[in-house]
Amino acid sequence: MIKIPRGTQDILPEDSAKWRYIENKLDGLMELYNYKEIRTPIFESTELFARGVGDSTDVVQKEMYTFKDKGERSLTLRPEGTAAVVRSYIEHKMQGNPNQPVKLYYNGPMFRYERKQKGRYRQFNQFGVEAIGVENPSMDAEVLAMVMHIYESFGLKHLKLVINSIGDSESRKEYNDTLVKHFEPVIDTFCSDCQSRLHTNPMRILDCKVDKDKEAVKNALRITDYLNDESKTYYEEVKKHLDVLNISYVEDPNLVRGLDYYTHTAFELMMDNPNYDGAITTLCGGGRYNGLLQLLGGPEETGIGFALSIERLLLALEEESISLDVEEELDLFIVTMGQEADNYAVKLLNKLRKNNIKVDKDYLNRKIKGQMKQANRLNANYTIVIGDQELENNAINVKDMVTGESEKIQLDQLVNYFIK
Ligand code: HAM
Repeated sequence: MIKIPRGTQDILPEDSAKWRYIENKLDGLMELYNYKEIRTPIFESTELFARGVGDSTDVVQKEMYTFKDKGERSLTLRPEGTAAVVRSYIEHKMQGNPNQPVKLYYNGPMFRYERKQKGRYRQFNQFGVEAIGVENPSMDAEVLAMVMHIYESFGLKHLKLVINSIGDSESRKEYNDTLVKHFEPVIDTFCSDCQSRLHTNPMRILDCKVDKDKEAVKNALRITDYLNDESKTYYEEVKKHLDVLNISYVEDPNLVRGLDYYTHTAFELMMDNPNYDGAITTLCGGGRYNGLLQLLGGPEETGIGFALSIERLLLALEEESISLDVEEELDLFIVTMGQEADNYAVKLLNKLRKNNIKVDKDYLNRKIKGQMKQANRLNANYTIVIGDQELENNAINVKDMVTGESEKIQLDQLVNYFIK
């Protein structure tokens, strides 16, 4: 038997209703914040991610699904959305749009070859936003407010917003040089990933899961001590806006994020549920990326955004025992007795559906009792039973399944009755 690939999942009808509910709600929230949807391809040039996300990141080094097409081009299934959105922004010269900043959102599958875990998949669905063409602390705060609004609108309460500033490129350079000097003497005792990160991306040593308890990690100087005046002021302003908006947060100077493009504000939203026993607690992550557009050959614009996976949102809802209101129902179920009634029902179904009435009937020659059970299973609001007598008399009882009451009407007026 051929099985589903590891790290992927089928979303079956009982769950896809939840997905649709979430996606519709997110679309609605995006309207409130005036973000417009963008759809980019599932695969892109490998070069886009190597350059945009960063050659030394785990995503690029270990996790990409890369392949050559028949024209020998190296392509990659997108591991994230930001690089692709920025590519599209540059390609379509969106800096010239009259509506600035350009506020975009996306929702679709991403692919990373990661170890499968609760909340971690190889194909997962990211919903993300990018606000491009704006460098203003109030925009950073707005994006953070949006993150909180999204999760709170689903009724989630056990949430922890963690923020940091990783400064501009000047602050980062100075800090990275210090970290190299700090870790060099002890790097032999660190994991092989950290050893290779030392010269390519030393900040990532700080959030290594393997070496997190090492003394050298604990007593390393913090990026916040290396922020230049401009970066410090920017960060202070963001925090001031958060305070005004009454958004609570925790600062973590070790939050450096796994993708290379971040500058200034970086953040993650974590599950903060004392009863949760899974290893994955990050629900959503994002930050500002001031150099990314230029790195990809674009204009001197800056951006900020975040992404969350719907899988982890569902996990958080499950952990807080929040059920979504996704009960599906039918307007009418038609029970038939005999071939003639069934033939009549086929035509009736067709007319009702063309008038936007949600309706179904039996196809398995069930007995009346079985058909009624099916009507209940499908959550039908009304049922009718058509037999020879109903056809002959042009009369039908419409039964309200909630109150149990029936109303007698003319059979040939049924469509009008339901339209009304
Ligand atoms: P990221 O932190 O790599 O950032 O991913 C963002 C979110 O995607 C995570 O917080 C998590 O909800 C979800 N996610 C990531 N990997 C997996 C996985 N294997 N299984 C399930 N969910 C996963 C980014 O991707 C950035 N592009 C976010 C961003 C947008 N930054 C600025 N703009």
